[in-house]
Amino acid sequence: MTKPEGSEGAVPVITIDGPTASGKGTIASRVAQQLGWATLDSGALYRLTALAVLQDGVNAEDVESVARVARELDVSFRGDAVYLRKEDVSLRIRQEDIGNLASRVAVYPQVREALLERQRAFRRSPGLVADGRDMGTVVFPDAPLKIFLVATVEARAERRYKQLKEKGFSVNLTDLLDDMRARDIRDASRASAPLVAAPDAITIDSSGLSIDQTVQAVLDHWSSRRG
Ligand code: DC
Repeated sequence: MTKPEGSEGAVPVITIDGPTASGKGTIASRVAQQLGWATLDSGALYRLTALAVLQDGVNAEDVESVARVARELDVSFRGDAVYLRKEDVSLRIRQEDIGNLASRVAVYPQVREALLERQRAFRRSPGLVADGRDMGTVVFPDAPLKIFLVATVEARAERRYKQLKEKGFSVNLTDLLDDMRARDIRDASRASAPLVAAPDAITIDSSGLSIDQTVQAVLDHWSSRRG
């Protein structure tokens, strides 16, 4: 159980929300490492739901069946590895077909509801860095520090291109750009928990920043919050 908003001694959470490939995951894990905190990659849960939907041959348009898959998801996280029904799917869930399907099933409020408590259960002492789309607005509205991480779609497509290449996937930059634009629109315009900055979030534009500089910016905000 999380403690009520603003309560003394609540386990601190730093939320990092932003569009796809804005560097949230990398920044979140580096910040967590520096602070000795845990991480929640909430996008992985939507990706795992998408993969399970695909593996089970569930119709992605059938909201109730997709929500059931999300509720019954048998997943575990060990270090950087992600398991679905004991199978290591760390690489598979990063592929673009799964990302696109994740973005589609994430539109359903029933799916979001099914994943809500699972996400909140990651909040453990001494602290949590959670990245996604609605961490600051819906999942951890009482987080003491909320970051909204943005970057131009071109900078993000370049980064994703490099990442996928390094993992050995064959990719096309133009297709990536098109997919990313479509996903941005879908993630930002859906009725349930759309991608928006929380009113109390701090926006950081990482287009011209290195990973180290972005991590430092987040840590500086955290220090000044505590100070
Ligand atoms: O961050 P990501 O690219 O791994 O997320 C994959 C999809 O999951 C993304 O397009 C939208 C969805 N998602 C979401 O709706 N809410 C979150 N908190 C995280 C991800």
